[in-house]
Amino acid sequence: MLRKSAVICVAALALIGLVSLVSASVLVVMSLHTAGPTKTVHNALKPIPPQPDAEDRYLELLKRVLTRYGLENGYAPLQEPQSALKKWAYSTFNRALATRDKQLVRYWPIGLEETEVGGDRALRSGETMIGLKRLDNIQFCVTDVIRRKIPGDLIECGAWRGGACIFMRAILAAYGVKDRVVWVSDSFEGLPRPDEDKYPEAHIWSGGEMAVSLEEVQNNFKNYGLLDDQVRFLKGFFIDTLPKAPIERLAVLRVDGDLYESVTQTFEYMYPKVSDGGYIILDDYYGALSPAKKAVDDYRKAHGIATPIERIDFSGAYWRKEK
Ligand SMILES: C[S@@+](CC[C@H](N)C(=O)[O-])C[C@H]1O[C@@H](n2cnc3c(N)ncnc32)[C@H](O)[C@@H]1O
Repeated sequence: MLRKSAVICVAALALIGLVSLVSASVLVVMSLHTAGPTKTVHNALKPIPPQPDAEDRYLELLKRVLTRYGLENGYAPLQEPQSALKKWAYSTFNRALATRDKQLVRYWPIGLEETEVGGDRALRSGETMIGLKRLDNIQFCVTDVIRRKIPGDLIECGAWRGGACIFMRAILAAYGVKDRVVWVSDSFEGLPRPDEDKYPEAHIWSGGEMAVSLEEVQNNFKNYGLLDDQVRFLKGFFIDTLPKAPIERLAVLRVDGDLYESVTQTFEYMYPKVSDGGYIILDDYYGALSPAKKAVDDYRKAHGIATPIERIDFSGAYWRKEK
């Protein structure tokens, strides 16, 4: 009798346990079903807690996008061959393809190392050709003048697609700087035809190379959400625009005009405006463009500037202006 009651008792307890387990599961499923999405939406509406390095992360990401670091798909338009027969075959074939919205391309991936230092191959679709190291240098110089309150605007003379200037504007935006302007100085028609009489140095360009229109550059700023009244454009050749540019003081002068005469004119009209403690950045000091280096050396010599020049990478250099 006692054994029978014990069995009934255990069976009853097991039944109660089973019922509570089932109802608990139903409740969990229901609460997941009903409360789940509400919880997610609620979380999404919560403000993101401030990150100490959010500015750095934004600027880091921007450098990678501006240079397409690891983002190119590896295909580039096939260059026109040199020999007459191949040239003919190339253009005939390419014209036929163009009627079907196609073109000849080659697989030509760009290594990450190339994007770090910039250069010819790294300039495929990015908004700047200067590479990550020289962008790092812009970041260093601009954040330093902000931190040390060196007065003045920022300028790049020789902007091409505008990427370096977009990055300068982004640094001001990241740190909430409202009292400085980024000046974008370029012909927006490419390099000038070298004035061989006035500047008899070696010329490796014939003029017109690297033309990017003002509209395209403004559009690039717009794509990054950075086109506003803290960006000013000086359209025209340096010789015409720089002498009368309404710039009072500069904290950072970036020199990227490639030619002896372009670099000379940049120094002549902009260097005196750089505040003491501001930076002069040279894009082509150690690279292949020796006339650009000579223009810097000639100006420094003529004006008794002896401040040591710091190397950035295989091409770029900079120095801080002293009293
Ligand atoms: C090497 S690209 C600049 C690259 C750019 N800084 C970047 O971030 O990729 C040189 C630019 O300088 C401009 N330039 C050179 N000499 C110039 C001059 N005398 N007046 C106006 N623009 C000039 C050219 O139009 C070209 O866009």
